[in-house]
Amino acid sequence: MFFLRIATLVFLIFTCSFFNQIHGRPHSHAHKKHLHPISHVSFPPSPAPEAVSPTYHEPAVFNVRSFGAVGDGVSDDTQAFKLAWDTACQAEESATLLVPNGYIFMIQSCIFTGPCKSVLTFQKIDGNIVPPDGPDSWPRYSSRRQWLVFYRINGMTMEGSGVIDGRGEKWWDLPCKPHKGINGKTQPGPCDSPVAIRFFMSSNLTVQRLEIKNSPQFHFRFDGCQNVHIEMLTIKSPAQSPNTDGIHIDNTNNVKIYNSVISNGDDCVSIGTGCHNVDIRNITCGPSHGISIGSLGNHNSRACVYNVTVSESVIKHSDNGVRIKTWQGGAGSVSKVIFNNIHMDTVRNPIIIDQYYCLSKNCLNQSSAVFISAISYSNIKGTYDVRSPPMRFACSDSVPCTNLTLYEVELLPAQGNIFTDPFCWNAYGTMQTLTIPPAFCLIEGNPLSLPQNDVVQC
Ligand SMILES: *[C@@H]1O[C@H](CO)[C@@H](O)[C@H](O)[C@H]1NC(C)=O
Ligand SMILES: *[C@@H]1O[C@H](CO)[C@@H](O)[C@H](O)[C@H]1NC(C)=O
Ligand SMILES: *[C@@H]1O[C@H](CO)[C@@H](O)[C@H](O)[C@H]1NC(C)=O
Ligand SMILES: *[C@@H]1O[C@H](CO)[C@@H](O)[C@H](O)[C@H]1NC(C)=O
Ligand SMILES: *[C@@H]1O[C@H](CO)[C@@H](O)[C@H](O)[C@H]1NC(C)=O
Repeated sequence: MFFLRIATLVFLIFTCSFFNQIHGRPHSHAHKKHLHPISHVSFPPSPAPEAVSPTYHEPAVFNVRSFGAVGDGVSDDTQAFKLAWDTACQAEESATLLVPNGYIFMIQSCIFTGPCKSVLTFQKIDGNIVPPDGPDSWPRYSSRRQWLVFYRINGMTMEGSGVIDGRGEKWWDLPCKPHKGINGKTQPGPCDSPVAIRFFMSSNLTVQRLEIKNSPQFHFRFDGCQNVHIEMLTIKSPAQSPNTDGIHIDNTNNVKIYNSVISNGDDCVSIGTGCHNVDIRNITCGPSHGISIGSLGNHNSRACVYNVTVSESVIKHSDNGVRIKTWQGGAGSVSKVIFNNIHMDTVRNPIIIDQYYCLSKNCLNQSSAVFISAISYSNIKGTYDVRSPPMRFACSDSVPCTNLTLYEVELLPAQGNIFTDPFCWNAYGTMQTLTIPPAFCLIEGNPLSLPQNDVVQC
C-alpha cells in the first residue's frame, strides 16, 4: 500500500464556515475565530461510523455518510465532512476519507487543516462534491476567495471516480467580470470568486485520476507547497469562463504535472513566482490560454522562476501556446526553461514572451524588468491562427531577453497566408536550425549591458 508513512501529530485544526440551513442563519460562533485548535476529537454521532479499525497495512476507511453526510445535493454536508476529517486525521496509521459513489455532497468553504497523525488519502472522492450555488447562496461570512482548502498537510493523496463541480456559472456572470456589466462593460469593484481547491503550505501531495469542472476561479491552486505530483486529471470549464486557470502554482517546488487533459477559459497551467523544478509532461490543453509562466513582477515585485520543463504536450484552439508574461517594473528572473515536443493546433500565439503584460492598456514604461534568460524551444510544431505572429518575443526595453534558443520549430498557418516575420524586440538568441517561419529577428550574441548579477540572482 502507499500510505504507510507515519507523520507526527502536533495538533489538529479544522475550520469551516457552517451555515445552519434549518434556521437560515450562520452559527454565531462559526466565524468569530479563524484556525481554532481543537483539543478533543469530536466523535461522530450514533449510529457508530463504519470506520474499520486499521488492520496491519490497511488504511482505515472513514465514510462521510457514517458521519451524517446526506449527499442529496441540497443538504449542507459540511459538518459531516468536518467530523470525518477530524477522525481520519487523528487515525494512528493511514486513513482514507471516503466520499461514496452515488451521492452529491454540498459543502461550504472549508479549511481542512493538519498536520495529521495519519497519512491520508482524503479523498477517495467517488461521489460528487458541489459548493453552494453561486454568490447569492454563498454564506455571507465565508471566504469568497477559496472553497476547499488543505492547509499544513504532509502526505496526502486525493483521487476518485467522482466529479468536483465548482458551479461557477453565476460567478462568471457577475457584472464585475469582463464584459458582463451593463452594455457589455466591466463593472469596477471587488470581484472575488473562489478557487475551487487550494493546497497551502503542504507537502508530499498526490492528486490523481479525478475530474473537476466549472470552478468559479482557478480549479487548483498550490501555494507554499513542496513535492506535488499531479497525474491523470481532467479539468473542464467553458472557453469563456473568466480566470478559470486549470492548475496554478506559486512558491511551490518539485512539481510534476503529468498525463492530464485541461480545457478552460484561462491558462491550463500557470506558474507564478517562487517556483522551481517543475516538470509538465503529456498535457492536452485547450481550448484555453495555454501554458504560462507568469504573470510576474506585478507592482514592482521580485519574481524568481527556474528549471521548468514543458514537454510531450498538445495545445489546441488556444489564445497562447507556451507563454512567459511579465509586468514592467519587476525584478528577479526567469531562467532555464525548456519547451520541448509540443504540438500546436490552431493557436494564436504559439510561442510568446510578453514583458509588457498589462491589463489596463495604460501601464507606463518602466526601467526595470524580470530578466528572462536561457529559454529553449525545441520541436515545437503545428499550426497557428494567422491573427497573430506565430512567434513573439517582446522583451523589455531596458532588460533584454538573452540566450533564447530555437531548434526544430515549424509553425504553419491553420488557414490563410503564412506570416513571414516573427516579432522580436530586444531578444537575443539563436536559431539552431532554420525555423518556419525563420526567426531572423533574434539578435545574435549577448547584449552589451546585462542586469547586475545581484539583481537577478534568485
Ligand atoms: C516528504 O516525503 C519524503 C519522502 O517520503 C520525506 O523524506 C520528507 O520528509 C517529506 N516532506 C516533509 C516536508 O515532511
Ligand atoms: C498521456 O495522457 C493521456 C491522458 O491522460 C493518457 O491517456 C496517455 O496514456 C498518456 N500518454 C503517455 C505516453 O503516457
Ligand atoms: C530540475 O527539475 C527537475 C524536476 O523537474 C529535477 O529532477 C532536476 O534535478 C532539477 N535540476 C536542477 C539542476 O536542480
Ligand atoms: C513603451 O515602450 C514600448 C517599446 O519601446 C513602446 O512601443 C510604447 O509605445 C511605450 N509606451 C509608452 C506609454 O511610452
Ligand atoms: C543558454 O541556455 C542553455 C539552455 O537553454 C544552457 O545550456 C546554456 O548554458 C546557456 N548559455 C549561456 C551562455 O548562458
